[in-house]
Amino acid sequence: MRKLLAIAFIGIITAGAYGAANPLLSSPANNINEWQRKIKAFKKPQIETGKEYPKPFHIENGYKYKVQDVCVACHTYAPHKKDEKFSPFYNAHSTFLSCNTCHFVESGLDYKWEEIKDGKITLKEFGNFYGTSYVKVDGKVMLSGMNSDARIVPVYNGVPVEIPLKGNESLLKDAKAVASMHNALTDEPLKCLDCHKPNGKLDFMGLGFSSQRVKDLEHNDVVNGLVKYKVIHFPKFVW
Ligand code: HEC
Ligand code: HEC
Ligand code: HEC
Repeated sequence: MRKLLAIAFIGIITAGAYGAANPLLSSPANNINEWQRKIKAFKKPQIETGKEYPKPFHIENGYKYKVQDVCVACHTYAPHKKDEKFSPFYNAHSTFLSCNTCHFVESGLDYKWEEIKDGKITLKEFGNFYGTSYVKVDGKVMLSGMNSDARIVPVYNGVPVEIPLKGNESLLKDAKAVASMHNALTDEPLKCLDCHKPNGKLDFMGLGFSSQRVKDLEHNDVVNGLVKYKVIHFPKFVW
């Protein structure tokens, strides 16, 4: 494994400090009553808790997914299941991409690595976040950056498009805030080939991936195979 590179902090933003500027909260809140009803009726996805470790993954891994942002507090890190073929990959990517990396799409976004600790977002320029590994999360196998909770987040006018959970718990019951969050999201979230191609949405090099990794990510056999392959018979990856 690579040695930890210099970590440059380019800004620490406290949760409460950017409320109004955060596009997730400054979007108009439509259909508040409807959202009130949806929040009430919402059933949080159940994460299976079976102890069986899918073969051939023998090695236990101590990684625990930490719920650090409001999206995951409601939806969990594994909210996708509609699309049988790609959902496990959307779920797996949610361990190293903020939900908003795919669900918040605007022109002029920057993408940075973030870490959320104690309700504070720290944007990081460099670190040893890259390289994927298979990790165990609540009994399921997922992909994640090694030894790191860091995730890629979109940054809009200098503001990370993310709402930490800590300090913002009241938003979970605030239908107006929830309406505005969802209104801010795109109807066309990013799909595999939006990123896994040359000059895709993310500047892989700028995010610190090595040139070899950039090549692998831009010309990814798994992605290309999946896109071509019609049905994938994958026994429970992340459901
Ligand atoms: C208070 C709980 C709550 C929070 C916080 C929350 N959501 Fe949701 N989300 C919901 C509910 C409820 C629905 C509607 C589900 C339904 O209609 O069945 C929903 C729906 C969605 C949908 C699907 C819309 C569709 O067309 O089906 C997406 C995508 C989504 N949320 C993403 C996010 C993201 C990203 C965040 C964080 C910015 C987030 N949500 C925060 C409760 C929440
Ligand atoms: C790698 C990109 C990506 C990431 C990361 C991602 N999503 Fe999605 N998500 C999508 C796409 C694409 C769809 C639409 C899938 C379709 O309809 O084919 C989707 C659909 C959804 C839906 C609709 C339900 C379903 O089964 O499709 C919800 C809810 C949702 N996302 C929530 C989230 C939340 C919450 C997070 C963070 C934990 C997240 N997403 C992270 C790409 C992503
Ligand atoms: C928003 C951009 C984005 C989208 C959309 C996206 N990915 Fe990725 N993907 C990444 C990044 C960034 C990594 C590298 C993660 C790391 O190394 O920490 C990655 C890694 C991977 C890897 C591991 C590659 C390797 O060389 O180890 C696979 C496989 C993969 N993605 C498949 C998919 C599939 C399949 C989809 C669609 C369902 C998808 N990705 C959608 C950004 C994206």
